[in-house]
Amino acid sequence: MASVGKSTNIFWQECSVGKLDRQKLLKQKGCVVWITGLSGSGKSTLACTLGRELHSREKLSYVLDGDNLRHGLNKNLGFTAEDRAENIRRVGEVAKLFADAGLICIASLISPYRRDRDSCRALLPDASFIEVFMNMPLELCEARDPKGLYKLARAGKIKGFTGIDDPYERPLNCEIEIKPENGFCPPPSDMARQVLTYLEDKGFLQE
Ligand SMILES: Nc1ncnc2c1ncn2[C@@H]1O[C@H](COP(=O)(O)OP(=O)(O)OP(=O)(O)O)[C@@H](O)[C@H]1O
Ligand SMILES: [Mg+2]
Repeated sequence: MASVGKSTNIFWQECSVGKLDRQKLLKQKGCVVWITGLSGSGKSTLACTLGRELHSREKLSYVLDGDNLRHGLNKNLGFTAEDRAENIRRVGEVAKLFADAGLICIASLISPYRRDRDSCRALLPDASFIEVFMNMPLELCEARDPKGLYKLARAGKIKGFTGIDDPYERPLNCEIEIKPENGFCPPPSDMARQVLTYLEDKGFLQE
């Protein structure tokens, strides 16, 4: 367990270049697009498609993907509720820094617990934490199973797998919900457009 809030005798150092200066430079507003949902629901697909779309519009974004972060920053953490909470806490803090840097930070993680997601929301200024819920049925995610993890979880070879023998708490007040239309998942470009339209409407794509 990492030590949190144990440092004493620390002071906040102000710098003369601030968030507003950086936003002006980048011609955009820093924010966090937090994509949550079951494994296989399309979080990484949306994150990458959105990142590509923003790039083509000359907007600076960065994807914090749960799997990738577990290769480095979070490689000492597992999947117990406590480790998941610490995993999300660290990503929330990094996302906050990236948003302060002026970037559109796209975080794609299962982040199954409402309390952990809400703690990350509380780190960000009002309205700049945009929660995107990949509302895909478990059956669809399980049928996709691109990593073969559902199969292993069903066989009891992975314990504590979200949606199988570990909970997923759906968001209660997310900003954006991506769900199947007429029984079909919208193509990645449509999912990304839904988020882009939101960012545009709320003024994040201008300084
Ligand atoms: N909109 C979509 N239409 C069709 N297929 C999709 C769509 N979104 C994702 N997929 C496919 O579903 C699979 C799972 O998607 P993805 O890897 O993005 O899920 P994930 O939520 O990031 O899962 P994990 O939590 O395990 O990382 C992939 O094979 C991907 O190509
Ligand atoms: Mg993924």
